[in-house]
Amino acid sequence: MRYAHIIGWGAYLPDKVLTNDDLAQMVDTSDEWIYTRTGIRERRIAGEKETTATLAFEAAARALAVADLHPSQLDLVIVATSTPEYIFPASAARVQDYLGATRAGAFDLAAACSGFIYALNMASQAIATGSIDTAVVIGSETLSRVMDWEDRGTCILFGDGAGAVVLKGSSVPGGLMSSTLRADGSGGDLLSLPAIYHNPIPMLGPEYLRNGHEKNTISMNGRQVFRFATRVVSESIAVVVEKAGLTLDDIDIIIPHQANVRIIESAAKRLKLPMDKFFMNVDRVGNTSTASIPIALCEAIEAGKMHPDDNVVFVGFGGGLTWGAGVIKWDVMPRDISFVGREWKRARYTMARGRSRLRKFGRRIGARLLGSPIPDARLKDAEKK
Ligand code: COA
Repeated sequence: MRYAHIIGWGAYLPDKVLTNDDLAQMVDTSDEWIYTRTGIRERRIAGEKETTATLAFEAAARALAVADLHPSQLDLVIVATSTPEYIFPASAARVQDYLGATRAGAFDLAAACSGFIYALNMASQAIATGSIDTAVVIGSETLSRVMDWEDRGTCILFGDGAGAVVLKGSSVPGGLMSSTLRADGSGGDLLSLPAIYHNPIPMLGPEYLRNGHEKNTISMNGRQVFRFATRVVSESIAVVVEKAGLTLDDIDIIIPHQANVRIIESAAKRLKLPMDKFFMNVDRVGNTSTASIPIALCEAIEAGKMHPDDNVVFVGFGGGLTWGAGVIKWDVMPRDISFVGREWKRARYTMARGRSRLRKFGRRIGARLLGSPIPDARLKDAEKK
């Protein structure tokens, strides 16, 4: 039997801070309204040159440094995201290239804010079956790019960022010990983001456009999502704890998807758990969707809240509707990495970019020598004939 242990973790937040007061200059809202309804004070916004893949790369590089794993030892890169740069290539493939993870497969996973829980489950199962031995699971978002900055019901909630964990197989019991993944597609319209500008899925019909979905931005029915979230957070925690053969008393810390403090307060009440069992950082980062759990995990570790042998619960929920949770047996002590060690590891990525450029250059030279091996150029030639 193989177990997928978390051996590394990393988070990356863009520098730019957007406070509630900043938002009050943009839409009709206030710091007081936002804070009392959500617990959010500020969020981060990606810079012009930052993308979901660059944020994901930064988080993954940090997680690999903690794991002391060379990128070429990775078997799989998963990026859970709702804001990929392209439908394809996957953001994960770009991260694979930036890391120089030359032996790894790479794909994106779309399960909205539950994406990290889903991806952690997929990678852990692949390790448990022996199909792979190592993986980096990343949640990364540039939600500011798909935000309707005139809609005060949504733009106050979300932020940008990335978080990652490195998984490695071991015969020692540990890592993800139980999990649940659920979905209810009938609630898809409660929280959605069309894939293509002005071209929503035909299934949703003209009614969908009339309801203000003409833009490629997030739309949400806040009240209904709130009700859904409070129910599934408490339910899925109870399910995974029981599946792991534990009781709520055995759980040391719960790291929930950071959407809204009131959602977690309500779930805590249903479970009769004190709020200090839940680690929260939504006040400083807002809702970073797939990135929120791994970012919160990194902060919980930094705050000294994670100890070997702790039973930890991750729980997520979001568009789809999707939700899920997992119990993790925590078994790694944080290590201090020296400045020199960190810088030396970063040098690898400069070399990886150099190798990537060389491969691209090689392809271009090949194209010149062979005439026109670019697929659509060949197609055009064929049409002319
Ligand atoms: N500032 C000030 N007023 C606002 C506002 C804002 N940013 N957003 C909405 N309002 C107003 C509404 O227009 C409404 O005014 P009205 O009564 O005059 O019509 C009033 O506040 C109440 O709106 P409502 O939508 O019922 O507020 P709410 O108490 O449900 O709070 C959310 C709104 C979005 C904070 C809350 O529903 C929520 O957090 N839902 C879950 C969202 C979530 O977490 N989504 C992500 C899941 S992954």
